[in-house]
Amino acid sequence: MSEPNASKNKDGLRQTLLVAVLLSLACSVVVATAAVGLRPLQQANKQREIQTKVLEVAGVLDPDEDVAEQFRRLVEPRLVDLRSGRFADDFDPARFDLRKAVRDPALSDPLPPDQDLADIKRRERYTVIYLVKDTEGRLRRVVLPVRGYGLWSTMWGFIALEPDLNTVAGITFYEHGETPGLGGEIANPRWQALWQGKRLYNGASEPRLRVVKGRVEEGAPDAAYKVDGLAGATLTSKGVDNMIRFWFGPMGYQRLLANLREQLNA
Ligand SMILES: Cc1cc2nc3c(=O)[nH]c(=O)nc-3n(C[C@H](O)[C@H](O)[C@H](O)COP(=O)(O)O)c2cc1C
Repeated sequence: MSEPNASKNKDGLRQTLLVAVLLSLACSVVVATAAVGLRPLQQANKQREIQTKVLEVAGVLDPDEDVAEQFRRLVEPRLVDLRSGRFADDFDPARFDLRKAVRDPALSDPLPPDQDLADIKRRERYTVIYLVKDTEGRLRRVVLPVRGYGLWSTMWGFIALEPDLNTVAGITFYEHGETPGLGGEIANPRWQALWQGKRLYNGASEPRLRVVKGRVEEGAPDAAYKVDGLAGATLTSKGVDNMIRFWFGPMGYQRLLANLREQLNA
């Protein structure tokens, strides 16, 4: 009496398992296909975001015009060898992926702790900078990628310089994990606006610009070299301060900017 029941149960279990296996197989095929199929779209979105940020930080973004078209018309991405501070043509800058480069031992080097002011662990050998031109083709801004560790995360952004390569035209961050309302205020356009017109260097090769605790006194003699820290986010502010000191120091763009200045004055 009990034997037919046992075999029915077995068949039932087998069928349930089969359905579960087939279903999970079908689902994984759907997920994998979607992931692969969507990758080009994701990459295009990422590229568009970077292009938007570059145009925005340079102060030339026209919201009524197609981003890719504006970028193509006004921006010349250039590959830079950070070790020599010179332009390079070892790769196509359009295909350069900074995220990948900083993880790749062939494209980046570990930073010894005493040189790792921005707490980024590795420095890329190459990077891509953006020469932003006006409609007559004259240099209007130079946009440089920067990053540094805040309180919780690496903050990825850009700094735009005026053609004197000393005056800040803008700063922006396109990715960070700082707390909204505290360190996350680095993304607030009102705070970013405080950077416009600030100066990086004052004769010496070391950068002088600092993010200070509290407010910068208006009209103070060194106000051009100071930016207000974020209230309640001293650690993130310190991270931005370290980021500036690193990227405009000898391990960052110091050599590139000196070379560019020479070229522009030649
Ligand atoms: C939940 C939580 C999130 C915080 N997030 C940040 C942050 O993103 N950036 C930051 O600098 N400080 C953050 N802080 C505050 C720091 O712990 C620290 O108190 C602060 O940086 C000191 O800044 P102050 O001297 O301006 O008050 C956070 C604190 C808490 C409790």
